[in-house]
Amino acid sequence: MRLRLSVIGTGYLGATHAACMSSLGYTVVGIDSDSEKIALLNSGTLPFYEPGLEDLLKEQLATGRLTFSTEFSALDDVDVHFLCVGTPQQKQGLAADLTYVESSIAELSHHLKEGALVVGKSTVPVGTAQKLATTLLANAPQSDLAWNPEFLREGFAIEDTLRPNRLVVGVTNDRAESILREVYKPLLEIGTPWIRADLPTAELVKVAANSFLATKISFINAMAEVCEAAGADVTVLAKAIGYDPRIGNKFLQAGIGFGGGCLPKDIRAFMARADELGASQALEFLREIDSINLRARQRVIDVVRKLIGDDLDKKTISVLGAAFKPESDDVRDSPALDIAAQLHAAGATVKVHDPKAMQNAKKRFPSLIFSSSVEECLTEADCVLHLTEWREYRQLDLKRIKDLVKYPLIVDGRNSLDREAWQEAGWKFHALGRADT
Ligand code: UGA
Repeated sequence: MRLRLSVIGTGYLGATHAACMSSLGYTVVGIDSDSEKIALLNSGTLPFYEPGLEDLLKEQLATGRLTFSTEFSALDDVDVHFLCVGTPQQKQGLAADLTYVESSIAELSHHLKEGALVVGKSTVPVGTAQKLATTLLANAPQSDLAWNPEFLREGFAIEDTLRPNRLVVGVTNDRAESILREVYKPLLEIGTPWIRADLPTAELVKVAANSFLATKISFINAMAEVCEAAGADVTVLAKAIGYDPRIGNKFLQAGIGFGGGCLPKDIRAFMARADELGASQALEFLREIDSINLRARQRVIDVVRKLIGDDLDKKTISVLGAAFKPESDDVRDSPALDIAAQLHAAGATVKVHDPKAMQNAKKRFPSLIFSSSVEECLTEADCVLHLTEWREYRQLDLKRIKDLVKYPLIVDGRNSLDREAWQEAGWKFHALGRADT
């Protein structure tokens, strides 16, 4: 008989994992304490935006294999449970808040059948799995715990789940590994690399990967600062160093830096954990990565003041983009929205547009002005900021929109607009890390 799966926590990661595992032919039950979310998922509506996922959800619900529930009792028959609850940054301090992980494991431990395997996917501080295993075994001595970190990117969630660039499993015995090999058989058959590790290594792989990615972005943003000071061009520099395969050209897009629900909180939680382990010096550099990242946001504000003057209370600023990255409606720690809010706090009239993230942005910063169209957003602007690189912003009719603004001044915070095309259409163009031409 095929293994029966569950997914506990149906946020971004869990909802994707549940729909994708169902698409591999498994019976999957998704559990969440949020009854509104569960009702939406059961009706085929995704509570967030992710390309292709709502269609997959509807398709899988129709097969009858995929269901969602608020009741842990729905888990009594399940062989493999994937733990996908959130681990946000604590309100006080840098460390991760493990409340949801701990309470889910405590509750789950009362609903485990003999031999069930619990597989953590949430991003946790190293050492968490070992602690959770103790709780689990106290209530369910015949169960087992493994850790299988997730590397999916928002905007590419289905692709990254069904065609991941590697699978990492932290296990303490061969049986757990062979169960996971069975679950992921279809992915192994397409050649996905498989890495068996112990629990702490598996936990660390995830935060190490995100720390490396954050470091790459802050590295190029540090170069952008130097380029600005030296009158050089960071986009050319990035292209040139990226041809070296040891460096690679990905994640070298200079701009307003990284945000979202993962990279910022993961590097902070990693520092906090290293501190507890007595290894804080090893991760001291991540403090610098974090401050370069936050400085990029401030640099945009400084540029705006330099370009249009300090009397921001008399200015209208259009912000194109609110999501932390394109193809997402996620505004958690969004650099774009942070900059918009800071300019608003400094007295400017700030109008924001985003193709998908307006509702979430409005909830977070209701005092900003939200424009339902790019045209409305640009009208009477003293300055336009391009802060999330949605495709539609690269396809604007530059001559036409020039007539809408008060001054044709654009600041490209993502280094992804065609400078020559904007200049040809009569715009004054400024970008982070590039000398003005
Ligand atoms: C990140 C990782 O890339 C995933 O591998 C990981 O699974 C995920 O976190 C997670 O921990 O769950 P994600 O948060 O979806 O994925 O976003 P990224 O694509 O990594 O982008 C993060 C931020 O960096 C965005 O704000 C993006 O605009 C910014 N970025 C990215 C740059 O500023 N420059 C770049 O060159 C690349």
